[in-house]
Amino acid sequence: MPKTRLRLAGALAAALVAAGLATGPAAQAQEHRPTLADLAQRHGRYFGSATDNPELTDSAYTKILGSEFDMITPGNGMKWYATEPRQGVFDWTDGDRIVNLARRHHQRVRAHTLVWHSQLPDWLSSKEWTAGELRAVLKKHITTEVRHYRGKVYSWDVVNEAFNEDGSYRETIWYKTLGPGYIADALRWAHQADPHARLYLNDYNIEAVGPKSDAYHRLAEELKARGVPLDGIGLQAHLALQYGYPATLEDNLRRFSRLGLDTALTEVDVRMQLPATDEKLAEQAAWYADLTEACLAVRRCVGVTIWDYTDKYSWIPAFFPGEGAALPWDERLTPKPAYSALLEALRQRTVT
Ligand code: G3I
Repeated sequence: MPKTRLRLAGALAAALVAAGLATGPAAQAQEHRPTLADLAQRHGRYFGSATDNPELTDSAYTKILGSEFDMITPGNGMKWYATEPRQGVFDWTDGDRIVNLARRHHQRVRAHTLVWHSQLPDWLSSKEWTAGELRAVLKKHITTEVRHYRGKVYSWDVVNEAFNEDGSYRETIWYKTLGPGYIADALRWAHQADPHARLYLNDYNIEAVGPKSDAYHRLAEELKARGVPLDGIGLQAHLALQYGYPATLEDNLRRFSRLGLDTALTEVDVRMQLPATDEKLAEQAAWYADLTEACLAVRRCVGVTIWDYTDKYSWIPAFFPGEGAALPWDERLTPKPAYSALLEALRQRTVT
């Protein structure tokens, strides 16, 4: 049977069991079926999900969040606007809540994110800063936040989305005021504040080999050569069926490994133009399997995180009107073919 057909047959059976719709001895035998995290761990990988504070009151949602994944990323709660809403006044409420929830479920945390151009508080984005002032503001923010979460998080997305599509530096407040050196500084300050956290640069549209991922490759090589504490590159992987699968993903992961870096798929979703059809959902399932297999094929690809796990809380419909259905669980928290394809991909590959 072709790979995709096999995937779909398995997908349907597992989805019925997971949704509690299958009964009888076979279904009962699968009650203790391994989770995505269990299967990823067999490969020495994790399987994670982002989450966000407003969703945490939804107990049906948190039940799956707490059981299916072993890595959690706060979708917003650790960003600058949330953690330093007024200059020098720090608020850990949202981030702590997610860290504590993760701890209760024996999950690790990919912390996100220290230096970004988006979701900055007004006091920061609306003022003209001198380089000296802004450098001090940045150092204080990184040092205070990383110290607060020291020993409690596995990794940090230290700098998020630093490059344009053509591989030039994005003209952010950080780049414009401080020049490209802000990246090395940020990594060094984060390392000083928590020497054990794995430190990442993270971006979207760098899944395939191309100008933007080349820019990361060049920068990473240079940072490593200068002894700057960089541990990994995060490939967000916000994919869309209409733009095609990034066929060079595995090669791309491998070239970062060769630099001595970890890689991770950090914000995976696979959106589509609505309405979702069986055909699109099948293609989406194949993409989820393929990207997971690409990660498993490259030894230093440490894990996969999806950008929340259910369409109920996906960011996509608000940002891309007319698109959605991007995650492995639907809006009623029922697993979709993508979920079963993930299980199957994680079951099949031999350990690398
Ligand atoms: O907090 C306000 C709330 O007070 C207000 O009532 C509400 C009304 O719209 O908005 C709330 O803010 C929203 C915020 O999420 C918190 O929920 C913003 O409008 C909304 O734009 C923001 O979206 C977040 C987005 O980053 C911002 O760029 C998404 O939730 C979050 O998932 C998304 O995550 C990013 C990663 O950090 C980096 N990579 C891309 C990814 C997707 O955009």
